[in-house]
Amino acid sequence: MVSILGISAFYHDSAACLVIDGEIVAAAQEERFTRIKHDHHFPLHTARYCLSEAKLTARDLDFVGFYDKPLLKFDRLLETYLDYAPAGFGSFLKSMPLWMSEKLWMPDLIRTELARADGEDDDRQAKKNGKKFEWKLLFGDHHESHAASAFYPSPFEEAAILTIDGVGEWATSSIGTGKGNELTLLQELRYPNSVGLLYSAFTYYTGFKVNSGEYKVMGLAPYGEPKYVNAIKDNLLEVRDDGSIKLNQDYFSYSQGLRMTNGTFDKLFGGPPRKPESQITQREMDLARSIQVITEEVMLNMARYVHRETRMKHLCLAGGVALNCVANGRVLKEVPFDEIWIQPAAGDAGGALGVALAIWHRYLGKPRVVSGGDAMKGSYLGPRDSEAEIEKYLNENGLAYMKYAREELPGVVGELLAAGKVVGLHQGRMEFGPRALGCRSIIGDARSPQMQSVMNLKIKYRESFRPFAPSVLREHVSEWFELDADSPYMLLVAEVAPGKRIEVDEQQLTGLEKLKVKRSEIPAVTHVDYSARIQTVSRETNPLYWEIIEAFRQRTGCPVIVNTSFNVRGEPIVCTPQDSYRCFMRTEMDYLVLENFVLSKDSQSV
Ligand SMILES: [Fe+2]
Repeated sequence: MVSILGISAFYHDSAACLVIDGEIVAAAQEERFTRIKHDHHFPLHTARYCLSEAKLTARDLDFVGFYDKPLLKFDRLLETYLDYAPAGFGSFLKSMPLWMSEKLWMPDLIRTELARADGEDDDRQAKKNGKKFEWKLLFGDHHESHAASAFYPSPFEEAAILTIDGVGEWATSSIGTGKGNELTLLQELRYPNSVGLLYSAFTYYTGFKVNSGEYKVMGLAPYGEPKYVNAIKDNLLEVRDDGSIKLNQDYFSYSQGLRMTNGTFDKLFGGPPRKPESQITQREMDLARSIQVITEEVMLNMARYVHRETRMKHLCLAGGVALNCVANGRVLKEVPFDEIWIQPAAGDAGGALGVALAIWHRYLGKPRVVSGGDAMKGSYLGPRDSEAEIEKYLNENGLAYMKYAREELPGVVGELLAAGKVVGLHQGRMEFGPRALGCRSIIGDARSPQMQSVMNLKIKYRESFRPFAPSVLREHVSEWFELDADSPYMLLVAEVAPGKRIEVDEQQLTGLEKLKVKRSEIPAVTHVDYSARIQTVSRETNPLYWEIIEAFRQRTGCPVIVNTSFNVRGEPIVCTPQDSYRCFMRTEMDYLVLENFVLSKDSQSV
């Protein structure tokens, strides 16, 4: 048995992943355990959890992989960026991985942290107690980790690979191919030319938080007009035939690290950045729309180039920018790949999984077995609480609940949804990646015209424009949406089917007025441009969730419900039943489902 622990940490959204004999056994983000959003510290709690899932200790591990090379990152941070090479997608160094055993502080730190995971004070203490670590520590390349996370768990025997993010060590995007267990990176685009950083610059400028507010910009885009597209194209970037981009550094200041944009940028777009939390105006909406249009164009250009270069039928995507589901939807529709697969933990958390799989397949040369679906287990790779643990927790705290048999539960929850109730659903293993996929979700009736504002204002406590996503039974997706493909990870956007739409005279409406209009039979999940960010639900991957939606369909004729992550604004998604109960009581949610236990808000004594 070979056990490998993959780790990503110290930048944004730390995570760990355990791979045993090539199987992904467990993976989670540290923020879920520490309750610190995007926690970047060493993922001690997650490592502990992953090991416990397989009943291992850190000493039992054979390999520990770190998702990038801190030494190279350090090198980039030291450099001055004024004289960067103007090269585009340059030819990439080697097709063979460069495994490093670094002599920096990292190995010591990892040893000490993993000793702590085993309950020791530190590595030295562990040694004194006769517990020596035998495992080998390896460091992957940042984009190689992303690429591995995109290809190895994918359902394809062979595929082209495209990774796009802000920046790793030097690379900001890479392309390559995967065949069997071989992964070859062909070319890379280098800092400071970066689609991710360009998007983040606009995230910053529109007054949202870089590295987490990108979703808000994407959500705001449909309310605006693409007014600034030409200004961006004429001044900020050059899009090249080889898929690469070149950013004009006169407008950015991320190299200096203090702000994303500078005075020249402000001048071009007519003023300073919006102050966070201040009123969102039409200008921010227009900026959001413009940068979204540019991002889609750049991504399409990159994907077309990858297709031209590799001539492969399938495409795998990862890196933070691959979470831009609107752009992904266009890649699927407009670039001649037969199918695309996107790593659900496309951001840096997924690097933990990538490096662990890269050690198994690339370093150890173990074959890859593709059998039907992908290897992500629906991304349900986190902790699950047993019925007994939940019952104990409920009883010890004197909380009022109803207990149902497993067969009764879908009907009970389906009935609540049909009656317009908002339900917190906590069941099964927690999702790995930024999306809740029916195990740590808040769900509601997608047909209700009030559901979007109720959920935004009374439950999530966030901006009213933020759209909600639908979960739809896989069998019915093409009746309700212009999509007939799997989208299990909510990473594809498609339009509501014409037959389910209600046409609206858009000319009369501007900005957020667009929000109040009913556009389809499922208004709670229909965006102002008739699009929706879809999760297809299959019975095999998440049986209880599928049965709940089916029970709702039997009562209403509608196989679509609203699914939003189980958290409030600014908090990580819930992990434990305690987190879920706390969140349930803080909001105006009507019911909480903890596995077989159903709690109604009315019967809770506050
Ligand atoms: Fe990354």
